[in-house]
Amino acid sequence: MRRATLFVVVGVLMAVLALAGCGGSQAPAGGGAGGAGDAAAGKALFAQSVLGSTPGCITCHSLEPGKTLVGPSIAGIASRAGKTVAGQSAEQYLRQSILEPDAHVTAGFAKGLMPKPTLTEQQVNDLVAYMLTLK
Ligand code: HEC
Repeated sequence: MRRATLFVVVGVLMAVLALAGCGGSQAPAGGGAGGAGDAAAGKALFAQSVLGSTPGCITCHSLEPGKTLVGPSIAGIASRAGKTVAGQSAEQYLRQSILEPDAHVTAGFAKGLMPKPTLTEQQVNDLVAYMLTLK
């Protein structure tokens, strides 16, 4: 019995520590917007069929060049993102494409089709980092 109680206490402590650690990593570590993204995490996120209450990115964006699903293929997006809107870097364009889907509507596509997903700042950073690898 004693031993079991100890396990529970240790378990709770570890959970609290894990949560604290998580909260800590969410605080901007001086980096601010961008830079802090994890491309591998973004890749996994992009491939999810559902993101919270909205369909996942991959349900509308193919990774195959030229293949249109609901939205444009994101193959090679890193190479064109920086040239799409004058004055916006690739990183800025990709970030805005996720956060304000209707700010710049890709030629040939309708406004209002892309849902605004519920993502944490970190998840947005990860998705941007991932898309920046798709040259
Ligand atoms: C329901 C379909 C749908 C989902 C889900 C969706 N998108 Fe889109 N997306 C679109 C459409 C349609 C466009 C083109 C029209 C526009 O610009 O809003 C687009 C445009 C984009 C663009 C600009 C593409 C370009 O060639 O300039 C990016 C980047 C993008 N989406 C990323 C994402 C990411 C990341 C996710 C997941 C978090 C996502 N999209 C989820 C439909 C979708």
